Amino acid sequence: MCPPDHFEVAYVINPWMEGQYARTDVARALRQWTALKQTIERHAQVSQLSPRENLPDLVFTANAGLVMDGAVVLSRFRSKERQGEEAIDRRWFEEHDFRILELPPELTFEGAGDALLDPSRALLWVGHGFRSHKDAAPLLETLLATRTVSLTLIDPRFYHLDTCLAPLADGFLMYYPGAFTEDSRAAIETNVPANRRIAVDEEDALRFCCNAVALNDLVILNDASPALQDHLKQAGLTLALTPLSEFLKAGGAAKCLTLNL
Ligand code: ARG
Repeated sequence: MCPPDHFEVAYVINPWMEGQYARTDVARALRQWTALKQTIERHAQVSQLSPRENLPDLVFTANAGLVMDGAVVLSRFRSKERQGEEAIDRRWFEEHDFRILELPPELTFEGAGDALLDPSRALLWVGHGFRSHKDAAPLLETLLATRTVSLTLIDPRFYHLDTCLAPLADGFLMYYPGAFTEDSRAAIETNVPANRRIAVDEEDALRFCCNAVALNDLVILNDASPALQDHLKQAGLTLALTPLSEFLKAGGAAKCLTLNL
């Protein structure tokens, strides 16, 4: 995780950021981020990346790269506003002894924002349509020797795969069907049996419920309707709701603020 010392909305690269220019509350952002970190620390160890001035989105460490078995596939950001993060992320992974893997320079790839490991079915879900290049998925499949399922995103509010899909414990998968093409919805249905699919409605999706940190049975998220909370509990999951409203202004929530190492 990266502390939000320099977090703000300083440019617009997704619909959530529109009209939010300079409207984040630094103190509230720090309180919300700290509460998220403390919740995670009850179940996992948290390493930190130092914040930098003029890189407000560095807090969204999910986009630093995709980590698997001590290796990292570094991100290559679509927008020039975030490209300054790449060198900082690379240095962090080098200093922490990760094996560095890279995609060809012409391909954009936004890391764990668009590539989600689903350990219970040994596959990697890879999103494209807004940020990561369509050709990233087949290359990741070779690079990481893991099966991938490529999904096409169509709703600009759900521009990263981790804003609309979350693999959970015991093979459950929470997702917002409206964010995907018909073919991609079919691909999800082929890979996940009906009794393991938790389809959420638009209202819950807009609460960033799918942007959840999953640690074994625990699901940490910004918010969810009472009906969705019941559904998740019936699936045997434990919930921790922790408000992240300041980060929603930049188009991110719990999962975006973390990178599973
Ligand atoms: N403002 C950031 C962007 O648009 C938010 C990134 C959220 N990260 C994520 N993994 N969904 O790039």
